[in-house]
Amino acid sequence: MEDLRFGVIGLGLRVSLAVAAHQPGRGSVVAAVCDTDPATLKEQAARFGDPVTTTDHRDLLRRDDLDAIIVMTPDDTHEEIAIACLEAGKAVYLEKPLAITVEGCDAVLRAARDTGTRLYVGHNMRHMGVVRLMRDIIARGDIGEPKTVWVRHFVSYGGDYYFKDWHADRSRTTGLLLQKAAHDLDVLHWLAGGYTTRVNALGDLALYGDLPRRAPGTPRPHGWLREFDWPPTSRRDLHHVVDVEDVSVMNMRLDNGVVAAYQQCHFTPDYWRNYTVIGTEGRLENFGDGPGDTVKVWNTGPTGYRDDCDIAYRVPQAQGSHGGADLDIVAEFRRFVREGGVTDTSPVAARMSVAAGYMATLSLRDGGAPYDVPPLDPELAAYFDGGQR
Ligand SMILES: NC(=O)c1ccc[n+]([C@@H]2O[C@H](COP(=O)([O-])OP(=O)(O)OC[C@H]3O[C@@H](n4cnc5c(N)ncnc54)[C@H](O)[C@@H]3O)[C@@H](O)[C@H]2O)c1
Repeated sequence: MEDLRFGVIGLGLRVSLAVAAHQPGRGSVVAAVCDTDPATLKEQAARFGDPVTTTDHRDLLRRDDLDAIIVMTPDDTHEEIAIACLEAGKAVYLEKPLAITVEGCDAVLRAARDTGTRLYVGHNMRHMGVVRLMRDIIARGDIGEPKTVWVRHFVSYGGDYYFKDWHADRSRTTGLLLQKAAHDLDVLHWLAGGYTTRVNALGDLALYGDLPRRAPGTPRPHGWLREFDWPPTSRRDLHHVVDVEDVSVMNMRLDNGVVAAYQQCHFTPDYWRNYTVIGTEGRLENFGDGPGDTVKVWNTGPTGYRDDCDIAYRVPQAQGSHGGADLDIVAEFRRFVREGGVTDTSPVAARMSVAAGYMATLSLRDGGAPYDVPPLDPELAAYFDGGQR
């Protein structure tokens, strides 16, 4: 079978995904690349042999030698670029989040349905070993029926990755309870087997609001992702706009009755995610979230605190970025481009994670008032849940 030929739009930090997709002779190649920044374009293009290069994404849409387009530009561009790709009849891999508003998500989904062009949303956490392990434990019934899920996200690198560029500007992301949390809200929905219908949230810009910022248009400092400052209060060279929250807590009720909570902090010493799922017959919790780490299950009791558990599972070893998830998601995307059909990632779920994060952001900027999450048009949901046929 011939390699699929991919075009890639946006070659910033997420270029790791394009590298995972460039496997000459093994299924797919990156044949054309686009970035609006000529220096980034030149530097990154060299990683893919001799691809077609352009600073205008519309050049890729006119080419008939590309099977699909991978979109990895900043979040506020997703809606427009994805719709342009779909209208040009190009299958799309769109990085998460689907868009930065609920309306934006629905516009992308409608464009895919109306054009009949395949849309895939890059929620790579669904391919992470720790997430799949937790999901298997729940599916086997080891903890009974899930009733509550609590997620804590410790983002040690937050000040560097999220407050030194566009991520810190709410006009480019809505907020980090959408931009960053979209991953975990999607996983939470997947583990709980439902979608959020009602939210409330509190949050603050507790630490990065008063630290030194760069002048508009000045680049991030050399070595910004090698030399990390500690403590977080010593961080400097932040983006010129910083108006998103750096700490937030969010409560959810799901359509199947599950009650859930998600917490995010951008100034912790350590970076990881901790999930607790409690069911009618036990609970699970992960300790570390990478290959070789542990998910513990307690399903006897009641007892007092005990560090041991009834069953301990090891997260399988894996190769490549994001704990092996990037290679696996590329493999799923290749199959989807060739054959279509239902995938482990889901455009409907991608929309519901944005919708939950978007409404929670409205809530935290409104004193924590509860907000309902607008449902997705049932016809759109049915189209995507049916495998876009
Ligand atoms: N799934 C994951 O694990 C994961 C990880 C990181 C980032 N992401 C997502 O990937 C996307 C990109 O994130 P990033 O960290 O690489 O951002 P980045 O700022 O490092 O890179 C974005 C790149 O896109 C280019 N660009 C901007 N507008 C463009 C346009 N109209 N046409 C072509 N190029 C354009 C920029 O010049 C830049 O090189 C975001 O949506 C982010 O949420 C996902």
